[in-house]
Amino acid sequence: MDKQQQDALKKAAGIEGAKFIEDGMIAGLGTGSTVRFLVDELGRRTQEEGLKFTGVTTSRRTAEQARGYGIEIVDIDDVDHIDLAIDGADEVDKDFNGIKGGGAALLWEKIVNENSDYNIWIVDESKVVDTIGAFPLPVEVIPYGAGHVIKRFEAKGYQPVLRLDAEGNDVRTDENNYIVDLHLGRIDHPQELAEDLINTVGVVEHGLFLDRVNKVIVGNPNGPRVLTVSGK
Ligand code: 5RP
Repeated sequence: MDKQQQDALKKAAGIEGAKFIEDGMIAGLGTGSTVRFLVDELGRRTQEEGLKFTGVTTSRRTAEQARGYGIEIVDIDDVDHIDLAIDGADEVDKDFNGIKGGGAALLWEKIVNENSDYNIWIVDESKVVDTIGAFPLPVEVIPYGAGHVIKRFEAKGYQPVLRLDAEGNDVRTDENNYIVDLHLGRIDHPQELAEDLINTVGVVEHGLFLDRVNKVIVGNPNGPRVLTVSGK
């Protein structure tokens, strides 16, 4: 699939996702190129149809885009709950376990996900995999002592790489932390890995999102498929 085709599927998933946002909702808005299409559609509905909702965003980038459309964006601590959060994902498996953080926003994404009554992911079909892990797993790490965290990951065979931008500078998250990407190839035991990562001193959060989604909207050439996780 080339980038143009992939973008068309992302856009279709974003537009489908936007249908779930209703007047009066408090909505979590994720981060990434698929979410950009979602926010474009919500912006269109805001301006053309008078849609009115309050947004909480998982990054400053998304807040800026949404405010540009006149969407009201507030701080997460200014709302007592989030009705629905819609976000992208880097990979999702058949059990709806996901990897997120390709856009370095995993910490705020997990906080919004945790505080939302309902969570939807919007992805193109290339993100749906049998086993997660081909996509490098992002881990948010405090800069102080990050070199030691990376050495620990190396010793465990996690193949960590400090994320750099195109100019070779270390990428900083919205909380001014580093992202370390783990090149694992495949993750057969995500729960155990999640435990290990979160118990590593210096790790703030990791991009394993296990049992955290209610619906996945998959952009597909025949139209978006809406998958509802059973029992959720
Ligand atoms: C950002 C994320 C994104 O949701 C994920 O990287 C998917 O991005 P895209 O829609 O651009 O493929 O987790 O931290």
